[in-house]
Amino acid sequence: MKKMGLNEIRKEFLEFFQEKDHMILPSFSLVPKNDKSLLLINAGMAPLKPYFTGNSIPPSKRVATCQKCVRTGDIENVGKTDRHATFFEMLGNFSFGEYFKEEAIEWAWEFMTERLEVPKEDIWVTVYLNDDEAFRIWNENIKIPKEKIVRLGKEDNFWELEVGPGGPCSEIYIDRGEEYGCGDPDCKPGCECDRYVEVWNLVFSQYDKDEEGNYNPLPNPNIDTGMGLERIAAVMEGADNIFEIEVIHDLLEEVEKVSGSKYDEDEKVDESIRVITDHIRAITFLVSDGVLPSNEGRGYVLRRLIRRAARHGKLLGIHEIFLYDLSKKVIDIWKEEYIDLVDNEEKIRKVIKVEEEKFEETIDQGINILDKYIENMRNKNEKVLDGEKAFKLYDTYGFPLDLTREILEEKGLKVDVEEFNKEMEKQRERARNARHGLGKEAWGKDEIAHKLKDFKTNFKGYDTLECNSRVIGLFKDEEEVSILKEGEKGIVILDETSFYGESGGQVGDTGIIEGNNFKAQVIDTQKTKNDIIYHFVEVERGEIYTNESVLAKVDEDRRNDIARNHSATHLLHKALKDVLGEHVNQAGSLVLPDRLRFDFTHYEGVDEKDLDKIEELVNENILLGLDVSVIETTMEEAKKRGAVALFDEKYKDDVRVIEMGSFSKELCGGTHVNNTSNIGLFKIIGESSIASGVRRIEAITGRKVYRYLKDVENQMDSISSILKSNKDNVIEKAKTITEEIKEKEKEIQSLKSKMASSLADDILNQKRDIEGVNLITYKVNNMDMNSLRSLGDEIKNQIHSGVIVLASVLDNKVSFVSMVTKDLMDKGIHAGNIIREVAKVAGGGGGGRPDMAQAGGKDPSKVDNGLELVEILIKKSLK
Ligand code: ALA
Repeated sequence: MKKMGLNEIRKEFLEFFQEKDHMILPSFSLVPKNDKSLLLINAGMAPLKPYFTGNSIPPSKRVATCQKCVRTGDIENVGKTDRHATFFEMLGNFSFGEYFKEEAIEWAWEFMTERLEVPKEDIWVTVYLNDDEAFRIWNENIKIPKEKIVRLGKEDNFWELEVGPGGPCSEIYIDRGEEYGCGDPDCKPGCECDRYVEVWNLVFSQYDKDEEGNYNPLPNPNIDTGMGLERIAAVMEGADNIFEIEVIHDLLEEVEKVSGSKYDEDEKVDESIRVITDHIRAITFLVSDGVLPSNEGRGYVLRRLIRRAARHGKLLGIHEIFLYDLSKKVIDIWKEEYIDLVDNEEKIRKVIKVEEEKFEETIDQGINILDKYIENMRNKNEKVLDGEKAFKLYDTYGFPLDLTREILEEKGLKVDVEEFNKEMEKQRERARNARHGLGKEAWGKDEIAHKLKDFKTNFKGYDTLECNSRVIGLFKDEEEVSILKEGEKGIVILDETSFYGESGGQVGDTGIIEGNNFKAQVIDTQKTKNDIIYHFVEVERGEIYTNESVLAKVDEDRRNDIARNHSATHLLHKALKDVLGEHVNQAGSLVLPDRLRFDFTHYEGVDEKDLDKIEELVNENILLGLDVSVIETTMEEAKKRGAVALFDEKYKDDVRVIEMGSFSKELCGGTHVNNTSNIGLFKIIGESSIASGVRRIEAITGRKVYRYLKDVENQMDSISSILKSNKDNVIEKAKTITEEIKEKEKEIQSLKSKMASSLADDILNQKRDIEGVNLITYKVNNMDMNSLRSLGDEIKNQIHSGVIVLASVLDNKVSFVSMVTKDLMDKGIHAGNIIREVAKVAGGGGGGRPDMAQAGGKDPSKVDNGLELVEILIKKSLK
């Protein structure tokens, strides 16, 4: 067997298939395009699905790739064993309806035995139970003896994804020798032990599995093969496992260095080192491909990887954040093959750093809390942590459920996942309700959609704000009714309407619907999934009946305000991409008449300078007066035009593209201005974070900006008048006043200290001689205990030898301080004893050290009596 490393094998593989007339494509992004069945690319074939199913035409019928993949199904085992990994590269050759089993098997054999020079006798294969054809090819064409061809069932030899192309497969195994085996004389591929390593999977893709689980035969059978690059490299390098192969070991060594720990000495340490070595690859590649940490979907996968790796860093004793720096090593090792890692380096570091910092802020607190939970569970002999508590850890301290679960499992405990999920659902519900403040959902969207299954409202509102129509249905309290009376609230469904039903972030229209005998205010308009538009109305006068002819009129001013904000949202989206980068994507949007709100993916706060740039760019495109054109077309055509589509959004085949000059092109069903100049002006009024990796900009347009300017102007007027200045030099005036205040404060300070020293003089003047002891007793007003003590200290410093007892009354409460110099303590005078007796007289208590003591009292009228007592107490002490 040749000795070959990971990079050499990759190169050899692609060259081999190029010689076999395959087109070599670079790895696709880890983020699937237009495939909602998949969170992340997890196999070489995944990005090629449409070529298998015939939905798209491939650039060549033969393709080969080395595809980056992430699989996190087994994440809990990553680190625990040296066989699991989340990130890997998959080599694959593909035939889209061209060559089939024979060629696939023969080339695989040729590559294995001639290019990698794996000894023929070490190769075993498996085929699907009844796949006699594959069996025959291996046996007759390739001449593998029958006993080395194992037939296995669906579990092993039928390859499929949840949805998409799949079929029976044949797998190639390499026998690593008895020393790796379990000793069973019957040991062969399929056995659990480490002797036979499965290296290459040849899938004969004949079916397209749909969402219902049906296997639909494909018109042309395909070939999809996959060989895990790390795994074959381990075999070729004679490494025991993937962590021992050269390039990955380099990375592992870096982890050792950063953490100051050694691999292969302690099982627990090894586990953490492996977790970090594996996860940092996945993290670096995911961020490079545009994934940002979040609580949903692939963002959550990334967050979980970062947080799991960060925690294992802690277990290794790393106190600082470190992953962002470690990504550099990944970039260095893999940059030859994946050049975009270098282009994205800055983003990669930043995104990881921000997430690490965020986790760092709460992880210790979270771990402390979890430790307390664990202690409590131990005490109560419980084995399962409440889902509610796990949810709190998730919600407040950013602990992904799996992290909590993993920490618990390390201690033999579990978490109530079901209850956790319920809490999660509750929170989503709360969020939904908050969004739909009025609880409109409860008004029966589904009910309506269901009752009027075959109906679809004819929406006229793109072209006209007024239309004649007919009442198709009426609802009240979720029941279908035939009449809505004066004063009643309900839902009206018309066969045609100009009212826009809330969708795509744009709120519903308001206005009036009227007929011969009634007038109703439309308070809101909503839309069902199957395009039924329904109006929430309050009948102002008369009665509405089904089938009646009506006139529906949208509130025009409000609609125009909404259109301004919606069009501005498109300009903003584009400006954000231009200024901050292409990674910015819409994460949510709300278009209201009085403002717009736009949520987008971005890893950090947008600074003032960039906000200014964004605002300016939007305004420039408003002032250019760009025509807004609406193009109704197919999804395919829209993509060709380069229209921005929202990821995860379901679009119909017929779509609308809104183009604003050549600046912005976006798929959108909303209503817009005809020319960007109609927006008037655009002003950002807020930028904030709403979830990690998601920012929010709020802005206003048109009339609102005018109002805003008026408000600013009015404020300015008020400020000028308060400062008694005219508007032009109000700033100068404000500066002068602030300076003056500073000066005055200084003056006050100096007066205060003068007063304090004259008070001290006054007090010192009260000095009496009691049998050779200097005594000062004094009552001040309105001093708190601290000031009283400082005053006492000052006096004490000045008299060198003596007893000082001060009292103060503040808010009807008495404070006493007594101080005794060292020489007098030796004569038996004790500050604590004095204060105890003095305070008693004023209805209080206290005590303290011989040199200094303080106490409180309740009766201000007895302060003097208390102070008089001091003289007697001293005399007593001296005796
Ligand atoms: N798609 C096949 C796999 O991932 C080749 O194993």
